[in-house]
Amino acid sequence: MNIVFLGAPGAGKGTQAQRLMNDKGIPQISTGDMFRRAIREQTPTGMKAKEYMDRGDLVPDEVVIAMVKERLAEADCQNGYILDGFPRTVKQAEELDKIAQIDVALNIAVPDEVIISRLGGRRVCAKCGGTYHISMLKDNACPACGGELYQRDDDKPETVKNRLNVYAEKTAPLIDYYAGKGVLVTADCTGTVDENYKAVLTALKMD
Ligand code: AP5
Repeated sequence: MNIVFLGAPGAGKGTQAQRLMNDKGIPQISTGDMFRRAIREQTPTGMKAKEYMDRGDLVPDEVVIAMVKERLAEADCQNGYILDGFPRTVKQAEELDKIAQIDVALNIAVPDEVIISRLGGRRVCAKCGGTYHISMLKDNACPACGGELYQRDDDKPETVKNRLNVYAEKTAPLIDYYAGKGVLVTADCTGTVDENYKAVLTALKMD
């Protein structure tokens, strides 16, 4: 099954995609994670992406599309995948349609005030990449591996504001794009992580 996860920054796409991957064995392809890895490894793609990400802007379509095409050609994607953070523009969706058939696009629906609180409290493990909210943590150590937790640069308030504006302008139109293709489903994800996962499975008809 080829699944696209749609949703504003901080809606919980990554949290739910990781859960679905661990539960159902479908690989999660997160373009944000791929860029952050490329930045850490100082690859040419990473260097190009960094300036856009630091501002909360989208990385140019041609850079993202080339990276995703390469990733989807790998062996683990041949029986399906969860695209988390891609496509993000209509151009990206059109390019994706040329190489893949999307079975379902899941819109993770969360009001803006919840999103701002989730992003302000997000902490990421430097060692294993696990993502948490400060409300779930006892201290600054990763509950899974003990690694040190940090705040993402683009979770600073001024960058979050720009990311939400960019989402409204460039990415929200994809909701209509996939509705028009008859593959859009929606999960209300305002609850706890467990409650939201149930809503995700129900929307995907995987429960
Ligand atoms: P990316 O990493 O994709 O960021 P994003 O879409 O802004 O999404 P986030 O990772 O911020 O949020 P999420 O929805 O995954 O939420 P999460 O599960 O972490 O992209 C970063 C940048 O890369 C972009 O700005 C852009 O520059 C570039 N980029 C990436 N893809 C691109 C593309 N296709 N085209 C162009 N540029 C691209 O949850 C958020 C927080 O909430 C966490 O702390 C989590 O623990 C917490 N949380 C989740 N669920 C709950 C809950 N139910 N209750 C309480 N807390 C919760």
